[in-house]
Amino acid sequence: MGAVDIEKQAPNVARMRILGANVIKVTEGDATLKEAVDAAFEAYAREYKDAIYCIGSVVGPHPFPMMVRDFQSVVGVEAREQFLAMTGELPDAVVACVGGGSNSIGIFSGFLNDPVELYGVEPLGKGEELGNHAASLQYGEEGIMHGFRSVMLKDELGEPAPVYSIASGLDYPSSGPEHAFLRDIGRVKYDVINDEETVDAFYTLARSEGIIPAIESAHAVAYAIKLAQKMKKGSILINLSGRGDKDMDFIIEKYGI
Ligand SMILES: Cc1ncc(COP(=O)(O)O)c(C=O)c1O
Repeated sequence: MGAVDIEKQAPNVARMRILGANVIKVTEGDATLKEAVDAAFEAYAREYKDAIYCIGSVVGPHPFPMMVRDFQSVVGVEAREQFLAMTGELPDAVVACVGGGSNSIGIFSGFLNDPVELYGVEPLGKGEELGNHAASLQYGEEGIMHGFRSVMLKDELGEPAPVYSIASGLDYPSSGPEHAFLRDIGRVKYDVINDEETVDAFYTLARSEGIIPAIESAHAVAYAIKLAQKMKKGSILINLSGRGDKDMDFIIEKYGI
């Protein structure tokens, strides 16, 4: 785990340690998600006889994106059933945040064959300039990294560019290959939400519904709030990919109560 994220998400690290995990700090580069994936790959390449590589997102070489998509699709299939049972109809739109792309591909999987609009929300961070965001589907070009070909934010040498998001789980310079495909065939619309809109949505959901979302998921909430204002009627299913417990210390310290 990147040293920066170890600090930002201290409760997650404490949980992993209590459960017996050895969390190794990665200090290279920006010391966030991309460097952690680099380090995990390097360790696996060295120790492949004794180690198993696991990844939590739909990135990396085949078959990891497919495996993670299939596991996460349980959420999409069950959400579809539950939405039908609760409301008697399908949602008009489904919204999910996109980092590497696993929670979004999971929820989208349940609705790909339905007349339902699908929206993937990437982090615009501090703005459009390269280095200030991690919106690879919005601003990236075709590229290869971590053993897969998809969209990629590149620096002037064609290497993965530095990326930024307030959400530790979204600052990755690419997204899974299936997202690039869904974007290109026009099945999913990808858009962006910045840090400020995200923090507003974090507090709005907490104070209006009593649900504290992960900062990653708050990107989807912010987008759904905007979409609802445009749609005026209908229903939106938001994938709350995580709880905000892990982010509370960071949010309180940075933004106050
Ligand atoms: C709560 C939460 N949501 C979303 C993400 C983004 O990842 P993905 O796009 O693979 O769902 C992360 C990544 O760590 C996360 O922790």
